[in-house]
Amino acid sequence: MGRAKITIVGAGNVGATCAHWCAAAELGDVVLVDIPATESMPKGKALDLMQASPIVGFDANIVGCTDYGPTAGSDVVVVTAGIARKPGMSRDDLLATNAKIVTSVAENIKATSPGAVVIVVSNPLDAMVQQVFKVTGFPASRVCGQAGVLDTARYRTFLAMELGVSVEDVSALLMGGHGDTMVPMPSCTSVGGIPIRRLLSEDKLNAIVDRARNGGAEIVSLLKTGSAYYAPAAATAQMVEAVVRDKKRLIPAAAYCDKEYGVGGYYVGVPVIMGAQGVEKVVELKLDAEEQAAFDKSVAAVKSLVKTMDELMAKAA
Ligand code: NAI
Ligand code: 2OP
Repeated sequence: MGRAKITIVGAGNVGATCAHWCAAAELGDVVLVDIPATESMPKGKALDLMQASPIVGFDANIVGCTDYGPTAGSDVVVVTAGIARKPGMSRDDLLATNAKIVTSVAENIKATSPGAVVIVVSNPLDAMVQQVFKVTGFPASRVCGQAGVLDTARYRTFLAMELGVSVEDVSALLMGGHGDTMVPMPSCTSVGGIPIRRLLSEDKLNAIVDRARNGGAEIVSLLKTGSAYYAPAAATAQMVEAVVRDKKRLIPAAAYCDKEYGVGGYYVGVPVIMGAQGVEKVVELKLDAEEQAAFDKSVAAVKSLVKTMDELMAKAA
């Protein structure tokens, strides 16, 4: 069997770093694509990364381009194209700009890689993944979004720091949208098999949950010039790996939920089983009353975001 072909759209911080993680883990050949205005930048990053291969010891062909020709027939496409919020920009400005970018990216993916599993990263995540689903017309199982692996990783990191244990022993789940309303699930959090509430007080746990919820903003306030990219890119590479190695990982992802959790046809963060076919199953859990209320609030926020996007796109048409 040949190597998998992985296209990463957007050769910026998240895209290029994702290419790095994918290549280093030998997940497949990588194509980095950006807009023509970036000229030879994607080619430069691809060549630079290729030249790390004899040192690190990986075999992968990595190319950069500003058109979709070299991306044709990809097995997985990661979408990181878009802008991050700058001073003076409203949330709607970001939403409208990225919705347009993501629409054109989705049209190109549909035309060149009709069989791909698409993993969307661009923000606002829950709306962007819905738009890619709509524009590509791909089966819902082959379009998903990355947020939960990152948000859960932040939560797991802070728990490991607090307890002084290896991050490898912390297992956790977060649900809902990628935003202020995300829903941490202490009932699904354990350390070395021990339920978290047997190790941490409710106050400490709540403080950690809050820090995880604000994890993206904390990095923005430290970096000042942009948003997080090492952990987001690693999270995305883990989803790519689940597909190209048919891992059947049980991880949180933005997945299409219709009857599932009673969501009614929207993308929202839920536990899924990811493998070669993309999202192979949405795992439904019985939520307790508090979790259900928080999840419902998060779903309502996602629906309102999608409604605003649809109105902005209709106005622009
Ligand atoms: P960046 O600015 O470093 O890179 C974005 C790249 O997209 C730029 O190189 C730009 O030229 C390119 N681009 C713009 N329009 C394009 C188009 N039509 N086709 C192809 N490429 C295009 O930004 P960064 O830090 O890489 O973030 C990318 C996106 O990912 C942002 O929307 C950010 O908010 C989001 N993000 C999402 C996370 C998540 O967990 N879902 C985590 C981190 C970032
Ligand atoms: C994050 O959570 C900006 O969505 C990005 O870091």
